[in-house]
Amino acid sequence: MTSTAISGARILSVGTALPEQVLTNEDLEQMVDTSHEWIVERSGIHERRIGGTTSDLAASAGKAAIERAGIDPATIDLLILATTSPDRRVPATASTVQELLGLQCGAMDLNAACSGFVYALVAAHGFIEMGHSRVLIIGAETLSRMTDWTDRTTCILFADGAGAAVVEKTDGAGDLHGWHVDSNGSLEEALFCDFDGKIEMAGQAIFKNAVLAMENAARKSLAMADMSADQIDLVVPHQANVRIVEASCKRLGIPYEKTSMVIHRTGNTSSASIPLALEDAWTGGRVNQGDNILLVGFGAGMTSAAAVITWDGI
Ligand code: ACO
Repeated sequence: MTSTAISGARILSVGTALPEQVLTNEDLEQMVDTSHEWIVERSGIHERRIGGTTSDLAASAGKAAIERAGIDPATIDLLILATTSPDRRVPATASTVQELLGLQCGAMDLNAACSGFVYALVAAHGFIEMGHSRVLIIGAETLSRMTDWTDRTTCILFADGAGAAVVEKTDGAGDLHGWHVDSNGSLEEALFCDFDGKIEMAGQAIFKNAVLAMENAARKSLAMADMSADQIDLVVPHQANVRIVEASCKRLGIPYEKTSMVIHRTGNTSSASIPLALEDAWTGGRVNQGDNILLVGFGAGMTSAAAVITWDGI
């Protein structure tokens, strides 16, 4: 689909939270028939964090983003929590997070699997265009609760964490120049988790489709932004597998060195992974005013989403 990309909003700040408990590949060697070498070679993951609740992780990340922005939490008009692992079926975990943060605003969960944070970013720009001034977006997951710790094909990948961003109204066109959100429901069976069940995944099918979906979402966002791939300064991809990111970058003609990767220490944290990687680049001095950043993800559904922004945060 096409859309006008005028937004009038910008990401002001980001914040993250990870559980304290570290689960290394060596720990997994004690649990299933696998090896550190296999996991690193096939996924790029060395260790991951597990534990906590989705609401607690989300609130910690949200608090960090609000404090860094230096804003009064009372000025936040809406909280969007992207998650596939809510604390409860009802109510939305966003309402729990709202209470934890002491916000007085609308609150809702958004489930677009690992693409959720980018969906939330686009939605926040839309709400601001319709009159809101500040929207807090968070991606938070406790996938360890949905992981079958006896299944070596999935338990090496998934983990817990959270990342947040304050998005606020700004004069002018804002930071979002192009975006694309997508879903292919025919691939539902390739990755799913039933109520009270555990994640089941056809890894190779996901791998193949993920590379194509990331490329497609990125190309459509770049086209809307009227930018070429070589104008992108930083790629912040969903952290599912280093090889998926390498293959996607190759197809897009963007050097892998331009990516922000945290998967080696976080594993796959679904909707939290893009803000975790964005914050890592930001705190590491890799994000400068005016930089063009491509955020791109894919996930169960199969969803995909991308956004091209020009950094205008603090
Ligand atoms: N340790 C050792 N051996 C293993 C393990 C393991 N943990 N898991 C599988 N193997 C074996 C397999 O049994 C197979 O053995 P065989 O050849 O004797 O049959 C062999 O290793 C190769 O298995 P493949 O499935 O071909 O391995 P592949 O290179 O495809 O890597 C992986 C598997 C890492 C799961 C990869 O397919 C992948 O990353 N897929 C995408 C998954 C993904 O991104 N999911 C999330 C997307 S959505 C979201 O983020 C929530």
